[in-house]
Amino acid sequence: MSGFPMLSATEITSDLLLLRKAHDTDRDGLIELQTDPQVRVYLGGPRARSDVEQYFDAVGTANTTNKPGTYVIADNATDRLIGTLMLNRRSADRPGHVTEDGEELELSYLLRRSAWGAGLAFEAAAAALRAAAEELPDQPVLVVTQTANERSLRLVTRLGFQRVSTFEEHDAQQTLGVASLHSFNA
Ligand SMILES: CC(C)(COP(=O)(O)OP(=O)(O)OC[C@H]1O[C@@H](n2cnc3c(N)ncnc32)[C@H](O)[C@@H]1OP(=O)(O)O)[C@@H](O)C(=O)NCCC(=O)NCCS
Repeated sequence: MSGFPMLSATEITSDLLLLRKAHDTDRDGLIELQTDPQVRVYLGGPRARSDVEQYFDAVGTANTTNKPGTYVIADNATDRLIGTLMLNRRSADRPGHVTEDGEELELSYLLRRSAWGAGLAFEAAAAALRAAAEELPDQPVLVVTQTANERSLRLVTRLGFQRVSTFEEHDAQQTLGVASLHSFNA
């Protein structure tokens, strides 16, 4: 891991959601996120179920969110898994940066198909960004999403990110969004 500071909270709560570390009972939901063709349309397509199962068996479901800034998004009433969210560092050797050194904070999110269209990705992202803004110095935060991923771009705009450029990665055009971390302070 780089020496750049990360969000250290292991739990973040909002009105409807709890961002938390994975439990073994999240296994089926996490496998669905990797294998659902609709969820994976702009993420390189669905992964083979057997490969994903092997990965969870080898790593252990509860260990898949060990990295700081990596969360399961759960319904805070039922604890059911809704999706995952990451606020990690965008490695300097990938394209899409706004600073010389790279390694900026980067937000990404993935919701089960059944949870789309209810404002839950917005609520999860806003809560994570607010927690990061309270803990970390002001700095740019990036979102990279395929330009064809209109749902994700609507969310990026609603969160207050500016679209600053496009570039090619994974054989597709990506849009780079940027915001100042402290713009998410409550
Ligand atoms: C990208 C993704 C997270 C967006 O999910 P989403 O539910 O559309 O996102 P939001 O939380 O912003 O919800 C917005 C929708 O909820 C509706 N909504 C309902 N109540 C709402 C509320 N209280 N607040 C905001 N929006 C609300 C909005 O009208 C909007 O619906 P619409 O897009 O049909 O107009 C989801 O499509 C997904 O997981 N895609 C697959 C993974 C992916 O591509 N990730 C991006 C890579 S970083």
